[in-house]
Amino acid sequence: MSDVAFLLNGTPVRVEGVSPTRTLLDWLREERGLTGTKEGCNEGDCGACTVVVSDEAGARALNACILFLPQLQGKSIRTVEGFADEDGRLSPVQQAMTECHGSQCGFCTPGIVASLTAAAISGARDHDRTLAGNLCRCTGYAPIIRAAEASQDAPLPVWVSADRSKALPPLLNPPGAAWFAPRSADELAAWYLANPEARLIAGATDVGLWVTKGLKDLGPVAFISGVKDLQRVEETGDHFRIGAMVTITDLLAALSPHFASLGAMLSRYASVQVRNAATIGGNIGNGSPIGDSPPALIALGAKLHLRRGEERRSLALEEYFIEYGRQDRRPGEFIEWIEIPKQPDTLRVAKLSKRFDQDISAVLGAFNLTTEAGVIASARIAFGGMAGTPKRALATEEALIGQPMTAATLTRAQAALERDYTPLSDMRASAAYRMEAAKGMLARVFAEHQGVTTNLHEVQA
Ligand SMILES: Cc1cc2nc3c(=O)[nH]c(=O)nc-3n(C[C@H](O)[C@H](O)[C@H](O)COP(=O)(O)OP(=O)(O)OC[C@H]3O[C@@H](n4cnc5c(N)ncnc54)[C@H](O)[C@@H]3O)c2cc1C
Ligand code: FES
Ligand code: FES
Repeated sequence: MSDVAFLLNGTPVRVEGVSPTRTLLDWLREERGLTGTKEGCNEGDCGACTVVVSDEAGARALNACILFLPQLQGKSIRTVEGFADEDGRLSPVQQAMTECHGSQCGFCTPGIVASLTAAAISGARDHDRTLAGNLCRCTGYAPIIRAAEASQDAPLPVWVSADRSKALPPLLNPPGAAWFAPRSADELAAWYLANPEARLIAGATDVGLWVTKGLKDLGPVAFISGVKDLQRVEETGDHFRIGAMVTITDLLAALSPHFASLGAMLSRYASVQVRNAATIGGNIGNGSPIGDSPPALIALGAKLHLRRGEERRSLALEEYFIEYGRQDRRPGEFIEWIEIPKQPDTLRVAKLSKRFDQDISAVLGAFNLTTEAGVIASARIAFGGMAGTPKRALATEEALIGQPMTAATLTRAQAALERDYTPLSDMRASAAYRMEAAKGMLARVFAEHQGVTTNLHEVQA
């Protein structure tokens, strides 16, 4: 148990004796009586629990159900009870929601208002994208989108600038605390070396569910998303260096101009709220066979930089994934950086999921082919959802390199996919369907190289 301090609806709050895995949602509802923030799914899917969290980097919508209280240390939180002015005047988003009839039963409404408020603060105008993580089952989205449009140019509520001018509470890491919250990679390295049995928590978009759904006791934990020096994307002469704590939102912004297809795929990764919390280190670190970023990064030739104390090593990203549930990571070692070589934008990524937004992939294919005079000069291909890990398609690459981009080459490469992968059947897709989908993706990539526009970025089951 330890203390956490933050601003809640403009008022400094210090919560004493916090268990590290107490969620913000439970605390708001059960201890503060702030029941405007709703619990729907309790796993990051529905957005009923959305709140606005600000720090020096700006204001973001986050799902309170999978946010642990220590992750809020030193930040400012606004719930629906704090959106109106002090004299009770509704915020522009709230006012527009009432005028446009944007609410019926009202269960989703606080979360929708929070998402639209965070979007208004950051200037986001793509309201469909903003609301992809907010489910409304009775009003229908047309009136809600009308409310978003009606309020998008209104002045921001006064509390937005008032919160910014308030000093945020200092960070606490008292001796004997129930968790550790490093501020630098050096601090994390030293602590983790001494506490190798601890669980690292970055965005908690995976780990949160182990608690809310799995009811797990995590034991000793470190909250690592505040490690400042690993929250950056750096550009060197020939590489991008991505810190492990870079969120998917920031990764999307940094890499979209260089790899358009990667950007298109990442904009379908979960929802705004999840992308705002989830980190690239967590997406790789969990070793999931259906994590969206690893196949794309493998196809780009990414290297993983790991650190254990003062020892550092690097390996090709595909080598990190040994088999289902097993990665090449030693006790006390963590992902520090991911490095991507600069290159022409030849990457094509296809994400197949049952819903367009807010859904995990059944199959994700990443294809990085270059051609010279109609002949395939280089090929790096990787898939998610086709094996127990994200995996490179070495036989398929071999069937492609040095061959002309013809139907015969495509047929041979599609046959090679059967040597590369033995997919599983599960609730998302059957093995046969996965294999057919992978072959279809490759066919679309061929078609695109021949100038045919396909909906590669929009494939859906
Ligand atoms: C509603 C919802 C939708 C989702 N949709 C998608 C989706 O579309 N695509 C997708 O790929 N994923 C999706 N996910 C899964 C999840 O968002 C990702 O896997 C995410 O990237 C995990 O990152 P995190 O920072 O939240 O990790 P955490 O949950 O904090 O940690 C995950 C694991 O990684 C380890 N870890 C974290 N950082 C490091 C590090 N630096 N070094 C070593 N180990 C580390 C942790 O110890 C833990 O084992 C979704 C999740 C939810 C809840
Ligand atoms: S309760 Fe559904 S996202 Fe939090
Ligand atoms: S108003 Fe009922 S769920 Fe949206």
